[in-house]
Amino acid sequence: MVDALKLLALFLALVYLPSSDAFRYRKFRSPYNPKLRNALPSEFSYKTMYMTQNVDHFGFDNTQTYQQRYLVSNQFWNDDGGPIFFYTGNEGDIAWFCNNTGFMWDTAPEFKALLVFAEHRYYGESLPYGKDSYANNTMLNYLTAEQAMADFAELIKFIKQTVPGAAKSQVITMGGSYGGMLSAWMRLKYPNLVLGSLAASAPIWQFEGLAPCGSFYEVVQRTFQTGSQQCVDNIAYSWGAMTSLWPVELDFLTKTFDFCKPIESKDDLSNLLDWLAGVYGNMAMVDYPYPASFLEPLPAWPVKEFCKHLSEPLKDKALIAAVAEGVKMYFNYTGQASCINMSEEATGNLGDQGWGYQACTEMVMPMCSNNTNMFYNIDWDFSSYAATCKYEHGVMPRENWISLNYWGKDIKAASNIIFSNGLLDPWSGGGVLESLSPSLVAIQIPSGAHHLDLRGKNPGDPADVIAARQQEKNIMKNWLYGPGR
Ligand SMILES: *[C@@H]1O[C@H](CO)[C@@H](O)[C@H](O)[C@H]1NC(C)=O
Ligand SMILES: *[C@@H]1O[C@H](CO)[C@@H](O)[C@H](O)[C@H]1NC(C)=O
Ligand SMILES: *[C@@H]1O[C@H](CO)[C@@H](O)[C@H](O)[C@H]1NC(C)=O
Ligand SMILES: *[C@@H]1O[C@H](CO)[C@@H](O)[C@H](O)[C@H]1NC(C)=O
Ligand SMILES: *[C@@H]1O[C@H](CO)[C@@H](O)[C@H](O)[C@H]1NC(C)=O
Repeated sequence: MVDALKLLALFLALVYLPSSDAFRYRKFRSPYNPKLRNALPSEFSYKTMYMTQNVDHFGFDNTQTYQQRYLVSNQFWNDDGGPIFFYTGNEGDIAWFCNNTGFMWDTAPEFKALLVFAEHRYYGESLPYGKDSYANNTMLNYLTAEQAMADFAELIKFIKQTVPGAAKSQVITMGGSYGGMLSAWMRLKYPNLVLGSLAASAPIWQFEGLAPCGSFYEVVQRTFQTGSQQCVDNIAYSWGAMTSLWPVELDFLTKTFDFCKPIESKDDLSNLLDWLAGVYGNMAMVDYPYPASFLEPLPAWPVKEFCKHLSEPLKDKALIAAVAEGVKMYFNYTGQASCINMSEEATGNLGDQGWGYQACTEMVMPMCSNNTNMFYNIDWDFSSYAATCKYEHGVMPRENWISLNYWGKDIKAASNIIFSNGLLDPWSGGGVLESLSPSLVAIQIPSGAHHLDLRGKNPGDPADVIAARQQEKNIMKNWLYGPGR
């Protein structure tokens, strides 16, 4: 029965919606939401600093410079040998990451560490060409991971040379998500500067040929199964229920979801399905055990909350209405939303624009779903992905560059990297889940979502994340002071 309905749903989807690219594959959008401000706890404080950086670290024609922002806290630092914890900023405002990375603040006193949060170029205030940074591809040409890491390396050198006491400090990089990838890659590229790296929820293998393209959505499904199997089955049917409203009943979708803009065309409908797939991915990413305001303000275990609306077998419009209720829980938990804005799975800001460009140049992350019940078929097809990039950003992506430049799966020549992954997090599918050597250590956090371990400690923390943080600290002590200290 389940299979028959599933097939019917897919059949309907294929018959009705064959034309839209958005429906055939999804480009990952950066989920970070700069509109959400989380203040740093009042006992912590940082200073905002700027460093002059070359716009181009790798060529000699362009001699322009820009101001990179970084945040520093010496509140807990022992300037006679205390280490430097260096956050490798990702695609957004660095103050946002600083305020959401409580682990570094909680851990600094124990290590007497200096905290540095370095902003990634082209994000926040670190704009190589000011407000023109996104004007065209000439301006954007210096938005690459290599350039950003060269900024980080120069900044580490600069701090060691200029801050009294820092010269003898060891540096440990830390980061989550793309920032976690940069943290790990810093140890690969600059082991002279970086003693070790904590790479939290870093999908360094979510690239061509390194991980199956379907892993992301398989983990999303697994996380929704923690809600209930019924929830997953309902979602599976909902795609067909929604597409069957085309062409005459699209109005029902607009009203039921309270969308800001009406669903009127086939393209709107396929955008809706695409958007929902993204929303489910984000919901799994932030499936935290306590109320948190990371991508959206949410209750504890938002996936279970969502699934409460879908715990009975439902069909047709009743099913769609239940999905809409769950979606409103996600976007309207605070009761502030006057309508549901479909362009806001993504952040719609400069940050997302920047990631859109990065995803169309270096960060090609194949994503597909052909092996889950929960999702409709999402294909991975590099040539149509590339064509869309050419159309939207005027650039052709390099499918294999990341695998080549950052050693692909064969990173065993590296050392001193901790790869932590929450198993509820869809990105864990592209992460390093098994230790590769005694100094390339994988830590799995079964009840963790997207870099839960980097968040500040919370009374709602499950035992496995508390243990993971302890293990991370033990490993870092081992790097810094030798075994048994
Ligand atoms: C970070 O915290 C500081 C101090 O509480 C606050 O002033 C600032 O607005 C916060 N920034 C963001 C992006 O949340
Ligand atoms: C790119 O934008 C900058 C800033 O607006 C402008 O000065 C430059 O002429 C543009 N270059 C091209 C090739 O369009
Ligand atoms: C959000 O919640 C508030 C309070 O319950 C409600 O008045 C409003 O209509 C909701 N917004 C949407 C888009 O459903
Ligand atoms: C929807 O979100 C986009 C991107 O943030 C924004 O530009 C637009 O104004 C929003 N629309 C409404 C009706 O709130
Ligand atoms: C899923 O699709 C990918 C490419 O889109 C393909 O490589 C893989 O074999 C497919 N898996 C299944 C189970 O069909």
